Amino acid sequence: MIKAVEKPVSHSEKDKTVRITIDGRSIDAPKGMNLLEVARSNGIDIPSLCYHPGLEAFGACRLCVVEITKPGWENWRKLVTSCLYPVEEDLIVYTRSPEVMENRRVVLDLQLARVPNSDVIRQLAAEYGIHDTTYTKRKDADNCILCGICVRVCEAVGANAISTLSRGPDKYVEVPDPEACIGCLACAESCPTDAIGWHEENGIRHIWHRDFELVECETCGKPILTQQQIDHFVEKSGLEERYFAKCDSCRKKETAVSISRVMF
Ligand code: FES
Repeated sequence: MIKAVEKPVSHSEKDKTVRITIDGRSIDAPKGMNLLEVARSNGIDIPSLCYHPGLEAFGACRLCVVEITKPGWENWRKLVTSCLYPVEEDLIVYTRSPEVMENRRVVLDLQLARVPNSDVIRQLAAEYGIHDTTYTKRKDADNCILCGICVRVCEAVGANAISTLSRGPDKYVEVPDPEACIGCLACAESCPTDAIGWHEENGIRHIWHRDFELVECETCGKPILTQQQIDHFVEKSGLEERYFAKCDSCRKKETAVSISRVMF
């Protein structure tokens, strides 16, 4: 049998990493990274609904739970949300133990009652053996699972247009002041359950009860951004409005042409 040769780890690398075990695999993980990111970057699947790699972890859906223990814990284990839990030296992680699977089943059972028409949740629940919810289904249900990604993405964009309103089972996501929305689609494109409806027709984008006229690329005529987006980006970035007058591909082509002129 060929013995695997362990890669020597330099001192400086060692200071930046911790060694953990996930599902029996020994992994060197960067300090400060959360368990979900470490598992995924090593090809280990952990399901999630409220995690977005570009945003701070929120810990709302609890689907990413895993079980952890450590050598000194005398077989004591606890469930943690992997998106919020930073890696620690010697941590032993189980991503599919019976407790983890049961916990995820409960989460998906509840989500299925909240959004019984969501294909994403139905498919995920089916992967865990749940084909119908044991709870009362929400009447007139939309596909929103209250993961909060749209609210946080909108904050990150700087528009701050989306909020959660009401409480408990009546809680919902809304744009209280449609004038604050810039029609950028960041919320709709990052929603894990496609709960935010939008469409475009004849140069008009419709989202959040509002119509936005699309500005066309001055070179190819393709509709690109809403005027509200352009105004917002100009204000936030300090760039001139003309910077946003072309679509990405026309801008790239023009840059390539100017580079080739300089070079040849
Ligand atoms: S992804 Fe971790 S709690 Fe939702």
